[in-house]
Amino acid sequence: MLCSCKCSIFADIKQFDMKFFIDTANLDQIREAYDLGVLDGVTTNPSLMAKEGIKGTENIMNHYKAICEIVDGDVSAEVIATDYEGIIREGEALAALHPQIVVKVPMIKEGIKAIRYFSNKGIRTNCTLVFSTGQALLAAKADATYVSPFIGRLDDISSNGVGLIEEIVDMYAFYGFETQVLAASIRHTQHIIDCVKAGADVATCPLESILGLLKHPLTDIGLEKFLSDYKKLNG
Ligand code: G3P
Repeated sequence: MLCSCKCSIFADIKQFDMKFFIDTANLDQIREAYDLGVLDGVTTNPSLMAKEGIKGTENIMNHYKAICEIVDGDVSAEVIATDYEGIIREGEALAALHPQIVVKVPMIKEGIKAIRYFSNKGIRTNCTLVFSTGQALLAAKADATYVSPFIGRLDDISSNGVGLIEEIVDMYAFYGFETQVLAASIRHTQHIIDCVKAGADVATCPLESILGLLKHPLTDIGLEKFLSDYKKLNG
C-alpha cells in the first residue's frame, strides 16, 4: 500500500505512472480503447488468441503485427513451448516480429531460465501466470521486464489478489528491482482502482472495465441538468 512515507522516499527515485493495457486479441476492442487516447499497450495469451479464432503460426504472427500497427505501446505475445529450447526459439521469433513485441513466458523453471537468456540478449519479457510473492521474486531476479500476477484468479479462490500486488510492489521498491508489476486477470473497475492504490505499474484490463471508469450517475445527472437549463433559455 502506498503510504505517505513511501511516496516521499521513492517519489524522487521512481516517477509513478499507471499504464493501461487492454487484455484482448480482439482488434476492434483494441482500436476502441486506443481511440480513447489513454491506452499504453496490449496483453494477449493463447486463450485470448483462440477466442478470436486465430490459428496457424503465420496467422498468429500476422495478428500480433496487426496489433502493433494499431497501438504505439508494448504488445505481449506468449510462447506456447514449455521446454527451454522451444521457449527460446519461439521467443526470438516473436521478438523479431516488431520492436513493440514483449515475449510472454510462463512462470515455470524453463521459463525463468529463458527469461534470464532473453534479458541478457536485450529481449523484453513478461513473466505470466504468477500467483505468489516468491514467483514474483524469481521473475525480478531473472530481470523480467514485466511480472503478471493474476489477481482475478486469486480472488476466485478466496485469496487476496490485490494484497499480492501490494506485497510485490513493496518487495520490488525495497530492493530496487526494475521489473514492472503488471496487474492481470482484472475482472472489474474496482480492481483497477485497487491496483492503482497498491502501486501497480500497469493494469491490463478488459475493455468494459476501462469504460467502467467513465461511469458515474452524478455525472449523467449533472450533464442532463446543464443541457436542460441551457435549452430552457436558448431553445
Ligand atoms: O492476461 C491474463 C488474463 O488474460 C487472465 O485473465 O480473466 O482469464 O483470469 P482471466
